[in-house]
Amino acid sequence: MTQSTKEKSKNGEVKPTSPNSDLKLDFDSFWEYSEAPESSDHIQLKEKYDLFINGEFVAGNKGRMMNTINPATEKTIAEFTEATSEDIDLAVKSARRAYEKTWSKLTGKERGKYIYRLARMIQEHAKDLAIIESMDGGKPIRESRDVDVPLAAAYFFYYAGWADKLDYAFPGRKAEPVGVCGQIIPWNFPLLMLSWKIAPALAAGNTVVLKPAETTPLTALKFAEICQDAGLPDGVVNIVTGAGPTGAAIVDHPDVDKIAFTGSTEVGKIIQKSLAGSKKKFTLELGGKGPNIIFEDAPIDQAVEGIINSIFFNQGHVCCAGSRLLVQEGIADKLIKKLKERMETLIVGDPLDKNTDIGAINSKKQYEKINEYLKIGVDEGATIHQNSKELPENGYFCKPTIFTDAGQSNRIVQEEIFGPVLTIQTFRTPDEAIDKANNTPFGLASGIWTDKGSKIFKVSQKIRSGVVWANTYNKFDPTSPFGGYKESGMGREGGLHGLYPYVNLK
Ligand code: NAI
Ligand code: MG
Repeated sequence: MTQSTKEKSKNGEVKPTSPNSDLKLDFDSFWEYSEAPESSDHIQLKEKYDLFINGEFVAGNKGRMMNTINPATEKTIAEFTEATSEDIDLAVKSARRAYEKTWSKLTGKERGKYIYRLARMIQEHAKDLAIIESMDGGKPIRESRDVDVPLAAAYFFYYAGWADKLDYAFPGRKAEPVGVCGQIIPWNFPLLMLSWKIAPALAAGNTVVLKPAETTPLTALKFAEICQDAGLPDGVVNIVTGAGPTGAAIVDHPDVDKIAFTGSTEVGKIIQKSLAGSKKKFTLELGGKGPNIIFEDAPIDQAVEGIINSIFFNQGHVCCAGSRLLVQEGIADKLIKKLKERMETLIVGDPLDKNTDIGAINSKKQYEKINEYLKIGVDEGATIHQNSKELPENGYFCKPTIFTDAGQSNRIVQEEIFGPVLTIQTFRTPDEAIDKANNTPFGLASGIWTDKGSKIFKVSQKIRSGVVWANTYNKFDPTSPFGGYKESGMGREGGLHGLYPYVNLK
């Protein structure tokens, strides 16, 4: 950093950096970094991926293919198969066979050994998985390397531990697996969402048919290779690719016992309707519009970092993002000033660069949706503030954005944008903060920042959301349950609660 401080000062002036020099920091150049791209030359991707059914990669029955691109370059990185309902039928049959003949017959201890092995193999392949995740989905390598992949391994380790302890998980009851689980996951945390779905399902003795999102299928297909290398019995995990119709074929298949879905509230509602009246169990993890509440007595600099993390982390492609900031009036001006200054330092660009804070927006569709909301916000009369740095020429990139003067009924305050866009409103009293926080169709996650423990307890009990973080944000741990109120979904994933949807208790 010292070197770049010397070379890159904005007005061309070389700044002194020796220990004897004036220690006043030059903030213009303080945040400039030399490029530090992670090499992806060694990454081995196939040109075309088949479906992973019954332990083998097999061509789809109609041979229909789709492309997945790198959203930072807009270039195709691989082709994958669009599974038809016939393919889904094969995958479900394979999962059913494996369930009846092998997996449900193993002891919990034996199942646990396989799941531990998968966890260790994710760790062994961590670097490549992180690079592929960033290439396929656009998220900064720092996040895929330090958050997504280690957490994915951690969820496998955690649930491996439950496999032989189900009798302790549900004392006095007998936990039986539900059977074949259909699992449909989104593009914001592809490998991590796979782990949230597959690890508890296998631990409880179920087999799975999982579909990754159509913009990010590659780490799931790599995971299929890991299942092969781990010697996992054939058919226990089946990975099928495709878009909405492939997902719907899983939901509608008569021999699936449970559906686990993470994605948009819109599709969640469609799934809930098509499951109505069926015997299938289901869990839905849907959208959010998380309120992040900053009280006057909050540690302000810590809160600024927390706010930045809560909304700009992973381009704001986070269902639990703190996308609605509620600030107590007395500190609003000071906090907004600090927030704008910090936003200005954020680096938007190459997801594979280790210095990048905000990578590429996952897809053209999502990029257009975010830009549409920026326009809506301005039309609604809110004041827009953005980071002033140029965006890369190619690829789908958005500037981190703050809207002040946003009103409670504005669409940018009510609707999920799923991008690096924060709305700011103020409040006077704790009750007003609670009212505003709860005035939303969603209820997934929220944050409270204050110096007073009593205030944390009082306010968090009145906020209707599955998670309330206090003086932090976006912290995940396999032992904690996660899930929503209202239109944010039903059921919990993670922790002991996350096992519950995968068992029938006798
Ligand atoms: P989506 O809900 O369409 O996609 C999620 C998954 O569902 C993908 O695997 C997709 O192929 C599958 N799918 C789509 N239609 C289906 C159907 N009828 N039956 C079964 N599966 C189906 O989400 P999309 O369109 O990619 O994103 C739209 C918005 O949804 C985003 O802008 C964001 O607001 C929200 N979203 C929320 C997520 C969350 O983590 N809660 C994740 C992704 C998106
Ligand atoms: Mg992609």
